[in-house]
Amino acid sequence: MKLPFCFITRGSRMFYRLQQKEFLSHFPRLDVTASRCGSTQMCKDDKSFYITTPIFYVNASPHLGHLYSAVIADCLHRSKLLQGFNSRFATGTDEHGLKIQQAAEAAGKDPLIFCTDVSERFKHLFNSCNISFTDYIRTTEQRHRQAVEHFWSVLWNKGLIYKGIYEGWYSTQDESFLMPSQVGEALDSSGKEIKVSLESGHKVEWMKEENYMFRLSMFQSQLINWLRENPRVVQPERFHQAVLQWLQEDLPDLSVSRQRSRLQWGIPVPGDTEQTIYVWLDALVNYLTVAGYPDKHNQWWHMAHHVIGKDILKFHTIYWPAFLLGAGLPLPQVIYVHSHWTVGGKKMSKSLGNVIDPLEHSQTFTNDGMRYFLLRQGVPDSDCDYTQHKVMKLLNAELADSLGGLLNRCTAPALNPFQVYPSFCSQSFPSDQGGRAVTDDYHMLAAVKHLPTVVEQHYHSMHIYKALEAISSCVRQTNGFVQRHAPWKLDRGDSKDQRWLDTIIHVALECLRIYGTLLQPVVPEISNKLLTRLGVQPGKRSWDALNFLPRSQGMDCPFEGRPLGPDSGVLFSRLETQSDDKQKPKKTKKSANLK
Ligand code: MSP
Repeated sequence: MKLPFCFITRGSRMFYRLQQKEFLSHFPRLDVTASRCGSTQMCKDDKSFYITTPIFYVNASPHLGHLYSAVIADCLHRSKLLQGFNSRFATGTDEHGLKIQQAAEAAGKDPLIFCTDVSERFKHLFNSCNISFTDYIRTTEQRHRQAVEHFWSVLWNKGLIYKGIYEGWYSTQDESFLMPSQVGEALDSSGKEIKVSLESGHKVEWMKEENYMFRLSMFQSQLINWLRENPRVVQPERFHQAVLQWLQEDLPDLSVSRQRSRLQWGIPVPGDTEQTIYVWLDALVNYLTVAGYPDKHNQWWHMAHHVIGKDILKFHTIYWPAFLLGAGLPLPQVIYVHSHWTVGGKKMSKSLGNVIDPLEHSQTFTNDGMRYFLLRQGVPDSDCDYTQHKVMKLLNAELADSLGGLLNRCTAPALNPFQVYPSFCSQSFPSDQGGRAVTDDYHMLAAVKHLPTVVEQHYHSMHIYKALEAISSCVRQTNGFVQRHAPWKLDRGDSKDQRWLDTIIHVALECLRIYGTLLQPVVPEISNKLLTRLGVQPGKRSWDALNFLPRSQGMDCPFEGRPLGPDSGVLFSRLETQSDDKQKPKKTKKSANLK
């Protein structure tokens, strides 16, 4: 992967290098460890957590990829809340720049009205899909403008911004400067030869203009040190390595403004109304604006975690940390990178007509269904393909049949006529073998007991699919346990059988309680339904309350003997394809019966 940095022409580069040398001689070395907790390690006693999504461009309606970024961040935020953190979760919209200016022009709308309309659509999507953001930021807000102006002035006052001439390629779609090696040739829809970014495929244009440059080159070695000293700061590892690789190449200074005559839709450079601040500098500062910059950001800023897609890696792992170092601010704790969704094996695009409307699909598959699919199938390291058939197959197997079927069995009046959390009998299921439980049952208990640790680790490292894989495997084992002992065949007239039956149901309900609790960050509605049905009060749904099967260790179980909660129907309705159209699923009321 090559990095498309802004570059300056040969002649002018010599000039800048000279200027820079002179400048560096009276500039103190900036310290990478300026932060209070400058590494990826959290301060032990600090329970603040700050997570962000990228802010979304408002040139077009939200699509599946946008929801994916938001769902990942939402899952991390919810998991931190359940672990007792004071978590803040920011999302919002990126509303300035040439791309938005052109989109508003093309729509024949006033840019702010245009932005407000699309920004509302993002907000509506996130509210509809239970994205529990605590802050929604728009870069057109006054508080943000103040933060950007302040940030710019800090860099300016430190001598990190200077006026120069940028000459090179620019992609408006990516709002990105490119090196010649990042540019290739392609044909446009009318067959005309055009230059494109090799990375994104978007059209690029040659530009030459006077604007402000940021001394990015000065930060090269500090960025390398930061990445080397914090090997988990960019996750997954492959992206961390990619950034280090990029940093082995030349790191030219970065253009951080555009001429006002070309770009009116943006924040003017303080003190120079002829220039507009580069949209990426403007956009990245949103993370600070939400944290309360410039006055009150300390509590949140030193705990910043960013979720981003792989296409915006260089902006977050090179430009952003360099800006922050320049401004003397702590660097992000972790930058979680995810890959992309393709549809039918192809990149989503309007021209291919394969753009997935996440709202429409969430209505079809339910919010939780969509969230579960995206997080269960989405692998951060590589792109994943979205098809409705896959969604249905996965949701039917894991949510309707496996998890829903288990709940259905253990709460059905046939097996649980008194609708209670029945008693556990330690003679039937002693802590060592010798009762009616078999070796596989003990393996299952060990797996479920260990599950919270496994899940917490995977959530924390954004390997959410691995957490869900582990939960799904335990659900299968619990179904196997119930199936193996066929409680429906036991003789209720026999007191020993009755005790064993109760024990089987008690164990299965305990497993379900653990699954329901751990699944809350991913499928909050389904988890709520499940835990409510088990009679687990809201105050008993945090990580602290997990304590699996205390009766097997001779402790009291707070739920034993308690009535179950109300039955509000199947946990997740099976989705069935209409025979005339494979792509259109419909919901059925039936839940699977695994007997
Ligand atoms: N505005 C910038 C981000 C600025 S953050 C300071 C931007 N916006 S975006 O709307 O184009 O993209 C927002 C997020 O959506 C990015 O993380 C991007 O990777 C993600 N996705 C866009 N298309 C995607 C897929 N097809 N699949 C998964 N996520 C993708 O970039």
